[in-house]
Amino acid sequence: MKFSRRDFAKIVGTAALGATALPASGAIENEIEQLPAQQNNAGKFPKNFLWGSATASYQVEGAVNEDGRGATVWDTFSHTPGKTVDGATGDVSTDHYHRYKEDVQLMKALGVKTYRFSIAWSRIFAEGTGQPNAKGLDFYNRLVDELLKNDIQPFATLYHWDLPQALQDKQGGWESRDTALAFADYSGYMAEKLSDRVKHFFTINEFGAFVELGYRIGIHAPGLKLPPARFNQTRHHAVLGHGLAVQAIRAKAKAGTRIGLAENMTICVPVIETPEHTEAAVKATRELNAQYMTVIQEGKYTDLYLATTKADAPKFTAEDLKAISSPLDFVGINIYTPLYVRADGSERGFAVVPHPKSFPHMISPWLFVGPEALYWGPRHVNKIWGAKEIYITENGCSSSDIPAADGIVYDTDRVMYLRNYLMHLQRATAEGIPVKGYFLWSLMDNFEWADGYTNRFGLHYVDYKTQKRTPKLSAQFYKEVIARNALA
Ligand code: FCB
Repeated sequence: MKFSRRDFAKIVGTAALGATALPASGAIENEIEQLPAQQNNAGKFPKNFLWGSATASYQVEGAVNEDGRGATVWDTFSHTPGKTVDGATGDVSTDHYHRYKEDVQLMKALGVKTYRFSIAWSRIFAEGTGQPNAKGLDFYNRLVDELLKNDIQPFATLYHWDLPQALQDKQGGWESRDTALAFADYSGYMAEKLSDRVKHFFTINEFGAFVELGYRIGIHAPGLKLPPARFNQTRHHAVLGHGLAVQAIRAKAKAGTRIGLAENMTICVPVIETPEHTEAAVKATRELNAQYMTVIQEGKYTDLYLATTKADAPKFTAEDLKAISSPLDFVGINIYTPLYVRADGSERGFAVVPHPKSFPHMISPWLFVGPEALYWGPRHVNKIWGAKEIYITENGCSSSDIPAADGIVYDTDRVMYLRNYLMHLQRATAEGIPVKGYFLWSLMDNFEWADGYTNRFGLHYVDYKTQKRTPKLSAQFYKEVIARNALA
């Protein structure tokens, strides 16, 4: 008889469960006692570590035509046939706009200490500039008050991709320098209104996604494929918008307000942890993030970036660079997946190693599983740029998520993903890398941009017909981690 791989796994599994296969329990206890103290403590996170969860306005709020909200590029894009899977839109999504109180209770049940949400610019200024809309602001006032009432600290993102459509129509969105200026005005206004209660603001979420996918590749709103010179200028305006917003928030916010960003920088992981590959990973981190994180941190574009883009390089002034690199209180990084690099003899000193075909990924094909990314990301930000306060502003994964007969999603794959990633984050904190908090993406399933509702990232399963939220196995796992402040 031939054994399949599955049969073999089954036998091994059964043996492991059989009483005879286990040493007597006393023996196990002895072994545990003999572990060095450090190992017994393994998996602990620093005291006061801020466990949190995250969402974004267009992905969860719905209520797109309520209380004076203006249209955004994502309304237009998702309503354009063929742009999202099944023609999905954020019109209703998880209806967080009306159900935020229920959602705050979900957070409370998890035990999270922080919630990262984003503000829809067009709820505040329907056309991006002009008269503020009190009703829109009220929603965020209510949300913030509800969070604080439940001992959850609000962390607000000012831009998570839902640009007011009027700015796109009038001036080509981020192609125009005026959008950077308008963003700064809106950011200052929000800081003025919320900083009595919101102590942490993120300017922009993921330059590396909304600019690249929206203005270069065209698979996200506003769906453009700009030629290189215009595209590089758009990149520049996005980082400029960030820098000007930092200045505006500082000018308008209450003392003690902390400002940062949430960037999905490319996380360069050395193929093997040796000095030469590590050095290559450091070089790669600076170069492959040249147009966003590096210029923000260093106040200049790298020579290689300018040399490669040549005549298509962005046009900028010294003053722009100064604004872009305005000092930050903390750095937020969204981390999902690694990019492996190795040392080589080239002038730039590194080579990217593509993922082999068999490299494991989650249900989203781009989401390659490389837990070490959660160690190397913060380490690079700390060692290369000296960041003293770091947040993991997003981490999480998509899985197929089918409820079992009892209604629960047993998402063991997500638990596996999180456990392994958190192990590496714990290593970073144990080595003294100043990571202060972690926001799991996402609190609940939601509108996953061009993928519509097909890829679920939530700790809570959302039945989109009834809006019922049900905690998945991963929610139980996360709750344990938070309660123990250690890996579970
Ligand atoms: C990030 C986005 C977030 C969500 C996750 C899965 O790139 O910031 O809105 O879609 O990916």
